[in-house]
Amino acid sequence: MNQRIDAWLQCISCRSIYPLDYRGYACEKCGDLLDVVLDLDKVEVRSWSIFRDRSRGVWRYRELIPVDFSKRVTLREGGTPLIDCKRLNEWVGVKELYLKFEGANPTGSFKDRGMTVAVTKALELNVRGVICASTGNTAASLAAYASRAGLPCITIIPEGAALGKIFQAIAYGAILIKIKGSFDQALKIVISVVGELGLYLLNSINTWRLEGQKTLGYELAEEVDGEYLVSVPVGNCGNIAAIWKGFSELKYLGLIDEAPRMFGVQAEGASPFAKMVEECREKIEPVENPQTIASAIRIGRPVNWKKALRAVRESRGGVEVVSDGEILEAQRAIARLEGLGVEPASAASVAGVKKMVAEGRIDRGEKVVCICTGHLLKDPNPDLFKPFTILETEPDLQKIIKELTEITSIIKIQ
Ligand code: F0G
Repeated sequence: MNQRIDAWLQCISCRSIYPLDYRGYACEKCGDLLDVVLDLDKVEVRSWSIFRDRSRGVWRYRELIPVDFSKRVTLREGGTPLIDCKRLNEWVGVKELYLKFEGANPTGSFKDRGMTVAVTKALELNVRGVICASTGNTAASLAAYASRAGLPCITIIPEGAALGKIFQAIAYGAILIKIKGSFDQALKIVISVVGELGLYLLNSINTWRLEGQKTLGYELAEEVDGEYLVSVPVGNCGNIAAIWKGFSELKYLGLIDEAPRMFGVQAEGASPFAKMVEECREKIEPVENPQTIASAIRIGRPVNWKKALRAVRESRGGVEVVSDGEILEAQRAIARLEGLGVEPASAASVAGVKKMVAEGRIDRGEKVVCICTGHLLKDPNPDLFKPFTILETEPDLQKIIKELTEITSIIKIQ
């Protein structure tokens, strides 16, 4: 164990404290979520200089991640590109727009940031195997890190998970259980069986995942100057909470003056969190049959809603709801205007900002960072990009020249 980091687990409601080798994911007294709490007065970080000579990525910030760095299970995750979008910004309607391209992670989504830390923790705890429920990306990521750690891995996947993600989990050697049901049902099953099977649960209800994902906040703080807003697609509510934790820790340490405002975006048919915030309620009302084209965030009972609520309220941010049409339009615009491929859930972050600008909730003069959480190839569906041009023809030069001459005379940039 890395003895230099003073930390413990703490219940977000009754404040009960647990040691770092606690295997549970919930408070034994009240059942609520746990946080990893660092004793920030004792960590050896008082300026950015300690990090600056190291390569980019999750483990650049090792002093703020209380697991054993020397035993880390890593595929060099994090350190993803921050893309300055000089064409998409006009489409969205803001002065400056950046996409944080999490699709560049080893398995193509931000989940890798969480898995490198949480699977390292699993090894520290000497678990016999790992399990998760997943709309796909968590399964793909866990399967990869479990294989690297030599741990058996089981994933439970709902109907409608994207093929690319399922293929990844298969390729990395996970056991897949496909249920004829939703993600929420899959997670309920995992929570019910995990104790009995003696496996370690690696959904984002396991706070060690968020300890890795918080580095997204650290990276943005290093990369983006001045004031800006952050837009995050929201499903199970883990990532927005994790990024906020990162910013909050940096603020406490004096490494940033102000944390950015955080905006969570949900799909219309799967928006219990956004509705709760909009209606100023203190409790979430689950959506029983969530529907959206963005299968990654097709979630009706987000487990981390309390943490996400903290993120939105403490940062003085907000929420937005977007339709499937708006998501697909944004996915297309990101690809066609910037050459960046993101999956539908990721595009929700951009669609949400466009909508908030149109509604006057975000000023056109703002600088905005959208978290693009997963890669386009996770969920390849050419039908969603119609119209497009595929010329099917014989390998006949004259014929192709003729066809192309006709096409190029009418070609226009979409
Ligand atoms: N974007 C993508 C591409 C995701 O895969 C997910 C979640 C989210 C956004 C939402 O993040 O749940 O932390 O609010 N995917 C999970 C999974 C649920 O199983 O892969 P969140």
